[in-house]
Amino acid sequence: MKDSYNREIEYLRVSVTDKCNYRCFYCLPDGGVLGIPESEMLSFEDIVRVISIGVGLGIRKVRFTGGEPLLRENFVKLVEMTSKIKGLEKISLTTNGFLLGRYARDLKKAGVQGLNISINSLKPKKYMQITGGGRITDFFTGLNEAISAGFQTVKLNVVYLKGFNDDEVEDFVHLTHDRKIIVRFIELMPKGEARNIWHDNFALIKDLRKRLKAKRLIVQEDESNKTAFSGPSRYYLTPWGGKVGLIGLMSDHYCRDCNRLRLTSDGKLYPCLMNHIYEDLKPLLKGGDEAIRESFLKMVQLKPWQANIEDENMMSLIGG
Ligand code: 5AD
Ligand code: SF4
Repeated sequence: MKDSYNREIEYLRVSVTDKCNYRCFYCLPDGGVLGIPESEMLSFEDIVRVISIGVGLGIRKVRFTGGEPLLRENFVKLVEMTSKIKGLEKISLTTNGFLLGRYARDLKKAGVQGLNISINSLKPKKYMQITGGGRITDFFTGLNEAISAGFQTVKLNVVYLKGFNDDEVEDFVHLTHDRKIIVRFIELMPKGEARNIWHDNFALIKDLRKRLKAKRLIVQEDESNKTAFSGPSRYYLTPWGGKVGLIGLMSDHYCRDCNRLRLTSDGKLYPCLMNHIYEDLKPLLKGGDEAIRESFLKMVQLKPWQANIEDENMMSLIGG
């Protein structure tokens, strides 16, 4: 599926619950934490049906997210069902790692190939502070369990926060001495709660890139990593051959490489995270596949060129 800007759309991010056991202050959803009631959420059968229709149109990769996806009851079963879809090449998962100690092996067996774990501080107290009570030991248990379960690489997602974790950047980069670990720094995006901490915590990823280069923590861009599905992240090599990803919405105008659509746990199909356009698939799931197929094509057609951060509000937050 090509959108109107000639981007190949082949990647569907599927949120299976909006609930999370952590309370990271940059991430609380727009409109608070009331959440989507269980009764409004798509069933596993519906999710698999939507993914299958997407795959029929050219989706090749699915990433499950949340909230915290492992909080959805029987989540492993959903992965098993999804892995049977013919033509789907890759299933990935983004998790806070809290339950990975328990589920890593089952997830691997069920067909998860790529694993991203969110981690914003390596210091126990700070970890507890940002997650609203999480324990860093749970993160490490999950990470170790994932590696011993046989995941070839595990990506760690670090939201780069000025005044919070910018003093830990070196520690994070040094985790890549273990080649199974790839560390990715993500620029704070102006959505939800993040708008309220913008002034205190936003910093540009391109400045981090300069810092890492000056300290020789990264030495060159890793072009070999610009493979299928890499989307907006750019990867760099450390002097010891480790990999560091930098993802900057504002710094790198990464929307030009965007390859994805998003499905929420209550069945809304969004062409872009930073925009209010969507199609509600739930009523359509009562009928045949054709209407759902049309919705996919419509969302691909309406996919905006870039994030909608130009409204007055945001310009003042970003500083023009
Ligand atoms: N800005 C940047 N990253 C965010 N995430 C959640 N909200 C934001 C935001 N406002 C991160 C999570 C997770 C990934 C899916 O996105 O921490 O690692
Ligand atoms: Fe894609 Fe929208 Fe994210 Fe840009 S902001 S990368 S268009 S989802």
